Amino acid sequence: MNESMTDVRDRVRTIFEPDAIQRRVRQLGEEIGAYYADRNDLLILGTLKGSFMFMADLVRHVTIPHEMDFVGAASYGKSKTSSGHVRLFYDPVTTMSGRPVLLLEDIVDTGHTLQNLVHLLQTREPASLDICTLLHKRKSHLDLEPRFVGFDAPDEFLVGYGLDYAEQYRYLPFVGSLKDG
Ligand code: IMP
Ligand code: MG
Repeated sequence: MNESMTDVRDRVRTIFEPDAIQRRVRQLGEEIGAYYADRNDLLILGTLKGSFMFMADLVRHVTIPHEMDFVGAASYGKSKTSSGHVRLFYDPVTTMSGRPVLLLEDIVDTGHTLQNLVHLLQTREPASLDICTLLHKRKSHLDLEPRFVGFDAPDEFLVGYGLDYAEQYRYLPFVGSLKDG
């Protein structure tokens, strides 16, 4: 059966409106620019695919020159997270060694993937490694806490603005929670 945009929007309860997201993303960009102002060679690394929209909006407000790339990571599974296993389905071609790297995440939930990814990226010996996440559910225990957080998020399943449910909803300009049923 064909589904309309009205059907889609009926199923998502808006939590962060487009205007609120844009305002916060602009602030974050300026904060990031100020934080890295006296550093050279900033590399902004977006996690695929969820951070693509956040990345596109954010870099327009980062007030210093920088490069960007993406990283695609999948954890092997919960049982192996303590050993730090993470599989890269896209390994950035950009050199990380000796330069400041800012990892952009869409959302931190359990933090398992991020934890593993951080450990892997540290083996590439960046000059510094920091995390910026648009959304943080504040229920994880990370060795490296995000330095920049867009919004604290409720512990619900969120979609839109890059976030998906079974690859759906990424294109929505707002973030909302999926209604039951
Ligand atoms: P974590 O390892 O549990 O922190 O989450 C790993 C990834 O799962 C995140 O980077 C997201 O891509 C995805 N994820 C976690 N929570 C949500 C959510 O509420 N909606 C959509 N994707 C999510
Ligand atoms: Mg993600």
